[in-house]
Amino acid sequence: MEERMVSSDQKEEDLNNELSLRPSNLLQYIGQDKAKENLAIFIEAAKLRNEPLDHVLLYGPPGLGKTTMAAIIANEMGVQFKTTSGPAIERTGDLAAILSSLEIGDVLFIDEIHRLPRAVEEILYPAMEDFCLDIVIGSGPSARSVQLDLPPFTLVGATTRAGLLSAPLRDRFGVLSRLEFYETKDLCAIVERTSDIFEVTIDKEAAIEIARRSRGTPRIANRLLKRVRDISQVRREPSISIDTTRKALQMLQVDQEGLDHIDHKLLLAIIEGFQGGPVGIDTLAATIGEESQTIEDVYEPFLLQQSFIQRTPRGRVVTPKAYSHLNMEVPKS
Ligand SMILES: Nc1ncnc2c1ncn2[C@@H]1O[C@H](COP(=O)(O)OP(=O)(O)O)[C@@H](O)[C@H]1O
Ligand SMILES: [Mg+2]
Repeated sequence: MEERMVSSDQKEEDLNNELSLRPSNLLQYIGQDKAKENLAIFIEAAKLRNEPLDHVLLYGPPGLGKTTMAAIIANEMGVQFKTTSGPAIERTGDLAAILSSLEIGDVLFIDEIHRLPRAVEEILYPAMEDFCLDIVIGSGPSARSVQLDLPPFTLVGATTRAGLLSAPLRDRFGVLSRLEFYETKDLCAIVERTSDIFEVTIDKEAAIEIARRSRGTPRIANRLLKRVRDISQVRREPSISIDTTRKALQMLQVDQEGLDHIDHKLLLAIIEGFQGGPVGIDTLAATIGEESQTIEDVYEPFLLQQSFIQRTPRGRVVTPKAYSHLNMEVPKS
């Protein structure tokens, strides 16, 4: 995959500071009001009943705050937060070991839960439903199945698309919460909060500019802010200015709408190679040398949300908005 500044995927450079930038309770978690309101009620009710929270599925594009929200849930419930991920659990024994280490009420977070191997997923069904673990000991004629009780716990799963989950797994979540792209005002608040943590000051206009070009995604907003801050510091600015912000974003090849060279490549591929579409996702992926799954999870959601492209039964189509954004004429017909 080509390196890009505005990829919402977590990068090496994000790892260092994402922990320190993560809000630790619901009050500090900016935006996503619908998801927050719902969760606040479920959390309060579970606490009143002195029961663990129902299993929660968080879904939405990368960088919108799923992992952050999972940790907040554990924090608000006052329980331990244990994390793993779909690809990290290869064998049923791995999951059995994790499950049997849980204590009452713990939150087990499984990131990229759609990537759990099928056999592992099947262990999860009785664990989620009845808090019990069915395991087979030994093999061949001497094999026998034993059932172990588990403490009641909360599974929090995260996935980029709920549609990637098998129906039986999806059905076992009591709470389904979809995270949305952030509005500019919320991203602006996130940029200001992060500036505070970095101990730098930023002009309002500059914060708004970064927010506007961050594809509705906090991870990208924080990453852009870091780069802009570096340039501002080299220029010895007392406060990050709009001028520096614009120059920095231009250097980073992030355009007015937050699109970068890969977005341009994708839009141009549809326009120039397929007369604006429709073109099937696999054909498009092959044309620009990316994986279909990456296009669907990482690049396309924002382009769809901002109406640069549309999905039709016959494939992707670029919109008049895309033509005018690229300074191109909308073809007749
Ligand atoms: N609502 C929010 N308020 C403040 N910062 C946020 C919020 N959501 C996400 N972030 C920031 O964005 C970064 C990426 O969030 P993360 O939870 O890792 O996203 P995801 O798991 O959905 O990919 C976090 O390090 C956090 O600093
Ligand atoms: Mg995450």
